[in-house]
Amino acid sequence: MAGGTGSRLWPASRQLMPKQFLNLLGEQSMLVETLARLEGMDCNDPIIICNEEHRFLAAEAMRQCGQHEAKIILEPEGRNTAPAIALAALVSEPDELLLVLAADHVIQDREAFQQAVITAQNFAAEGNLVAFGVVPRSAHTGYGYIKAESIHQPSAIKQFVEKPSAEVAEEYFASREYFWNSGMFAFRADSYIAELQQYRNDILTSCKNAMACAVNDQLFVRPDKAIFSACSDVSIDYAVMEQTEKAIVVPMDAQWSDVGCWASLWDVSAKDDSGNVLNGDVIAQDTKNCYIDAGQQLVATVGLDNIVVVQTKDTLLVACKNQVQSIKKIVTQLKASG
Ligand code: GDD
Ligand code: MG
Repeated sequence: MAGGTGSRLWPASRQLMPKQFLNLLGEQSMLVETLARLEGMDCNDPIIICNEEHRFLAAEAMRQCGQHEAKIILEPEGRNTAPAIALAALVSEPDELLLVLAADHVIQDREAFQQAVITAQNFAAEGNLVAFGVVPRSAHTGYGYIKAESIHQPSAIKQFVEKPSAEVAEEYFASREYFWNSGMFAFRADSYIAELQQYRNDILTSCKNAMACAVNDQLFVRPDKAIFSACSDVSIDYAVMEQTEKAIVVPMDAQWSDVGCWASLWDVSAKDDSGNVLNGDVIAQDTKNCYIDAGQQLVATVGLDNIVVVQTKDTLLVACKNQVQSIKKIVTQLKASG
């Protein structure tokens, strides 16, 4: 799934070049890193689902990974992950196993990730919808929370709560009985379709109709614009995972992070002795716990603590690291002002 906008990582992540196509960490873009993480595993050709606007970025990423047979499904506009995954399920064989990955994750322990995927495979083949659970590190409200029969081994999901309020997240975190939902899933194509049919048949119908009128060329699949754009905008978490009774969670201890904002990018990056992440030409005096990306110009700071500074060709962002979630609002404001 590579159709997100990554607006909380503005001004690096832009509409024409969202975060999954950027090298924010590693040597390669997050999308290429996502596929590289599967190296050595027995997988069929990948299916990439992204926005029409990013077709060449996606095609280039596939070329870089040597994935010349990849299918790239182009959404005329994003309708969130429940429809995106439905499109992938509809171009797959019914009994094919889908490993659904987000293109904006960092996973530092590749072996543990692959082991969790192998474990998930059997449960998925039996018709279950598998989520991958991560032991929470905080009461983060941007994640789904999963309560299962066991916190140590694969087991049936008893409760799935997408993005709870701060109060509820605090309670779940303190109880030590919940996982974070990592946002990766595994299931048979027909299992997902059956659950979507049961809980959100409207979404399935829109996706089926959009695919029935899809235009295919060699590399790209284009669902019908008018039909797909009329589909509800809902994530898999709300549409299916909160509802289904066929969900299993497989624990995954793979140093997983969702790089959703500058604070989480700071979290997973290597820091100097003062806790700073400094990229480019930076002079940082009496500066600590900061994320500073100088872009192409010199950035000099004095006496900063816990601040994010990101300079691009045309924009300078200065933000408090605790409030970077609100950067989304700047993007909304910019869009509204044209
Ligand atoms: N193709 C496509 N179309 N992809 C999309 C769309 C869309 O409309 N919307 C989002 N995506 C992609 C994003 O690019 C990302 O790779 C992935 O789907 C997840 O979307 P996010 O928007 O980043 O979701 P989230 O982080 O708020 O929440 C999800 O992930 C969390 C963990 O990172 C949920 O699954 C949570 O439960 C989970 O904890
Ligand atoms: Mg995310």
